[in-house]
Amino acid sequence: MQTKLSVNINKIATLRNSRGGDNPNVIKAAIDCQTFGADGITVHPRPDERHIRYSDVREIAPIITTEFNIEGNPLEDKFVALVLEVKPHQVTLVPDSRDQLTSNHGWDTIKEKNYLRGIIEVFKKAGIRVSIFTDPVEAIVAGAADTGTDRVELYTEEYARQYHKDKEHAIAAYANAARVAAEHKLGLNAGHDLDRDNLAYFRKHVPGLLEVSIGHALIADALYYGLENTIQLYRRQLQ
Ligand code: PXP
Repeated sequence: MQTKLSVNINKIATLRNSRGGDNPNVIKAAIDCQTFGADGITVHPRPDERHIRYSDVREIAPIITTEFNIEGNPLEDKFVALVLEVKPHQVTLVPDSRDQLTSNHGWDTIKEKNYLRGIIEVFKKAGIRVSIFTDPVEAIVAGAADTGTDRVELYTEEYARQYHKDKEHAIAAYANAARVAAEHKLGLNAGHDLDRDNLAYFRKHVPGLLEVSIGHALIADALYYGLENTIQLYRRQLQ
């Protein structure tokens, strides 16, 4: 099974925004990522639009020939409206606060079960697959099964942080979370701080991994190796 690589293009928008013009063009970047072998495109519109903009998301949707994944916090009404308008293949719900630098925790699927159930139903009724961002904690992943979500996305920052110190220790919670997800018939995605060094080991030891979404490290590598080579390099780690 090949794990799908969804390229998060927020960083390309961040570079564009730093000069206020249209270089690099994010629509072209999305088209090129797909041509170069990405299995999907991920965007994470934040409420202040400091990375990808809501208008970008609308413009990218029609050029997607692979899989479109939109991440964000459904507590923002305008995020929910955008997703329902654009109808991506997948929405990934992330409990990030408005001014957070980047996502830094998953849902508490036990405390927030009723809220999640309600909002997940809204997206599923619209025919959109739902994934929710979770820490690799057994009870949290088991709790996700009660929310009606199709998938969980395991938050991998801690794995990435520990990988170079002790990779067997770093992977243990994730392999266990994958087992719990499979028991509950939940699909499995992963993301955050995955990179060229830590990706293959993660893929090898986390059974049933359907998809990873990668932005920061992949776009940084592209500065040295070029976007096409880099996407191919990452895809090879996922075979
Ligand atoms: N998954 C989620 C929910 C995220 O918020 C992010 C960062 O926007 C990623 C995956 C990708 O993380 P990275 O940019 O470190 O690859």
